[in-house]
Amino acid sequence: MGADLSPRSSNTMKRISIYLLLICLVIFHSCTIDKANHTKVIGVSQCSDDAWRRTMNSEMKREASFNSGIEVKIKTAHDSNQQQVRDIESFIADQVDLIIVSPNEAIPLTPVIEKAMKEGIPVVLVDRKITTGQYTAFVGADNFQIGKEVGVYAANLLNGKGNIAEICGLNGSTPAAERHNGFMSIIGKYQGIKVVYKSNGDWQRKQAKEKMTEALQTKIPIDLVFAQNDEMATGAREAITVTGGIKKPILLGIDALPGTEGGIQKVLNGIIDATFIYPTGGEKAIQTAVNILNNKPYNKDNILYTAVVDKTNARVLKLQTDQIIQHQNRIGQLNTVLNQNLAKFSTQQNLLFFSFAVLFIITVLLIFLFRLYRHKNKVNEDLRLTNIAINKQKEELSEQRDQLIVLSKNLEEATQAKLVFFTNISHEFRTPLTLILGPLDSLIEKETLSANGKRLIQLMRKNVHVLLKLIDQIIEFRKYENGKMQMFFTLTNLKSFVSDICDSFIEFGKKKHIHFSFKASDDDYTLWFDSDKMEKICYNLLSNAFKFTSVNGRIEVSLTKILKNDEEFAQFTVSDNGVGIPENHVHSIFERFYKVDDRALGSGIGLHLTKVLVELHNGEITVDSKEDKGTKFSVLIPFKQKEIPIVEQYPTMSSLVGRQDDIMILDAEVEGEQEANLQTDKPLVLLVEDNVDVRVYIKSLLIDRFEIIEAQNGQVGLLKAMKFVPELIISDVQMDVMDGFELCKQIKENLSTSHIPVILLTAYSLDEQRAIGFESGADAYIPKPFNESLLKIRVRKLIENRDKIKNYFQKNLTFGERKENVAEIDKSFITKFRKLIEERLIDSDLNVDEIGKNLGLSRVQLYRKIKSLTNYAPNELVRIIRLKAAEQIIINSEKSVSEIAYETGFSTPSYFTKCFKEYFNESPTEYMKRIRVKGN
Ligand code: FRU
Repeated sequence: MGADLSPRSSNTMKRISIYLLLICLVIFHSCTIDKANHTKVIGVSQCSDDAWRRTMNSEMKREASFNSGIEVKIKTAHDSNQQQVRDIESFIADQVDLIIVSPNEAIPLTPVIEKAMKEGIPVVLVDRKITTGQYTAFVGADNFQIGKEVGVYAANLLNGKGNIAEICGLNGSTPAAERHNGFMSIIGKYQGIKVVYKSNGDWQRKQAKEKMTEALQTKIPIDLVFAQNDEMATGAREAITVTGGIKKPILLGIDALPGTEGGIQKVLNGIIDATFIYPTGGEKAIQTAVNILNNKPYNKDNILYTAVVDKTNARVLKLQTDQIIQHQNRIGQLNTVLNQNLAKFSTQQNLLFFSFAVLFIITVLLIFLFRLYRHKNKVNEDLRLTNIAINKQKEELSEQRDQLIVLSKNLEEATQAKLVFFTNISHEFRTPLTLILGPLDSLIEKETLSANGKRLIQLMRKNVHVLLKLIDQIIEFRKYENGKMQMFFTLTNLKSFVSDICDSFIEFGKKKHIHFSFKASDDDYTLWFDSDKMEKICYNLLSNAFKFTSVNGRIEVSLTKILKNDEEFAQFTVSDNGVGIPENHVHSIFERFYKVDDRALGSGIGLHLTKVLVELHNGEITVDSKEDKGTKFSVLIPFKQKEIPIVEQYPTMSSLVGRQDDIMILDAEVEGEQEANLQTDKPLVLLVEDNVDVRVYIKSLLIDRFEIIEAQNGQVGLLKAMKFVPELIISDVQMDVMDGFELCKQIKENLSTSHIPVILLTAYSLDEQRAIGFESGADAYIPKPFNESLLKIRVRKLIENRDKIKNYFQKNLTFGERKENVAEIDKSFITKFRKLIEERLIDSDLNVDEIGKNLGLSRVQLYRKIKSLTNYAPNELVRIIRLKAAEQIIINSEKSVSEIAYETGFSTPSYFTKCFKEYFNESPTEYMKRIRVKGN
């Protein structure tokens, strides 16, 4: 069993997923977007690619590296104005954060710088300027001041007298003009100093060499050459070295760069006599740019200072600058390492962060999983406990169910047993009641009876009929409940049928002073109905009306033809102006066992049964009643029956015989049916037949010679057979409850009845019966419809046959080799009987009760069986067996009379002698003499 993911845990899962997604976004943000957001790009546009600018670029890169989040992108225009304009345009297009420009020439570069400013990109000018003040800041030396200092230094060297050649920088660049102006502002003060040659060297060594060569070629003595940078001074030196005369002019330059190729080294090498430091200012430029970008205070004009470098300080400076270079290199290396470490650190930091994040996620997941696991365990535990509880409940329920099943089975069995008992007892009641009726009928005919006695007997007869009627209703009701009620439809005229019934009530109505009438329309009422059931319907309704209508009341019966839902019905109504039914009872009147009150006798079945019988005709019954006003029952019977199950038609004999029973309940003066009187000597015949009319018919055939007892089905027949042990049984085959085959089988298997001959009235031929396995051991089968004389002959023959067996037994008490038509069960019964007596021959106390017990029969059953088989009473047969044994003893021994008498169970020798003489027609002494003399 596993934990299910409840809506709660599914929500938690969703929450966890959202958290993890957010964490991932944070990590991504810190690793990527953060960097992009904080890195600022400084675009550097250099006009030339020379040592001075390379130094400056290195300084800028180094300085930028000290500032996190600053990236420097350098473009070099190689002394081309157009190229530099393009470089700056591309920086603008790339939307760099700041531009550092060293403009090649002022005029051509001014517009693009102003454009950048307009675009909101700050511009820091380095070294050179533009024509306007539209820039953010300037970092560089004061070139005018430098020019002045060069002028002062030159005037001093020349002692105020001499010729000077000046090689200027690029014409359009601002330092060229400013340095010249500054220089001239000092030199101009000296009368003895003349500038004999002035030309542009464009800041290039090559051009300067050419210009110097040109100056020398003028043959004007030159005492001092002022080249505006060290590169051009070097070119001048080369020209002087190649073409110079004896006197070498003093050579002054500007820049004083460190390094082996720098101006300081050139001073030391004697290439240049003196140079002036022109600071590159790369660090300052970046610092200013960073301040601008970080919105920190900065100076618009950052002026860098200069100093002269000549033979007096060149060595010291060289050492210092070398050291600086070394330091810078070292710093560069450290910076590289630092950057590498920083990169590593950054990676590791990211990794660490990422690891933390992953760790966090794992932790969260673990916590979640742990909680889920715990939750699952809890749920599982809960489920387990629930499961146990459910299983327990299930077991309890199953136990309860089993108990209930047993209980209901017991109840059902008990109910069935009760119902069976109920039905059986009803059947049982019928016989004694009919046996009461017989004597009552005989009594009432006695002329000696007083009027009062007659009245009392009539009262008894009336109540016996009431009981019989109730019993019949119960039996009928059970038949319906068991689904064994069969319908026998015949095409009959309902009008004359109802009219007949009503006729039988006319006399009674008169006696009760009730106005009774029957009216019917002129229609043809020939339709299909079961006359037996229809009679019960009519009778029940009529007797009900008579019961509840008092003297001088009115009962009207009508028959009309009506149309309902396009179907034709015969409407039979019985209305009275009797006591009526209370309103609250009307709707329940047809319920079974329902009784309005205890005012009348009844089982509560009558009206229920009536409704059932009406519905079996596919009809309907309704009631309309008002208390103290009267009642009207209305029965609708369809003219057309759909699929009539015509199983069998009643014989044409009138069913009025049965109806008389019913009317007798109402009227004690009406004659009732005759019931069998068992007090006669005629042989007793049991007639088992469910059709009353057939029963009446067969009875009429046999009544002269036989006493008849009747049973309406096999079960009742079996009970009666066991009780009365008749001489013969005639039984129908097709019956409810128990059919004739089963009855016969049971009769033949039962010791108390096995000897009774059975005639089965069967619809099948003997061959057909055998084919379907209905062989039941009957003594005769008479096929239906039977021939009157055939039946009589068969009955007579069987009775005669029985007499033969009786004779045989009377004579022999053994069957020997003779093949009499006697069943094995009866042969063995007689043998058993004889053996029992012979074994206990000496026992004079052996009585009939004990013998019956030993043979499994009641006293009566034993009596009837022995009587039926031998025509002796059991006592007589016992005595005969004893006498026959005594005879054998006389023949085979020398014993005395008294010895033999005691040995054969006679209480006294005299009684033995009396009995012996009666049976053998001579006394035992005489018999002994005769036999023994013969033997001698
Ligand atoms: C480098 C350079 C330097 C000079 C400066 C003037 O390109 O020529 O030698 O001092 O430019 O702008």
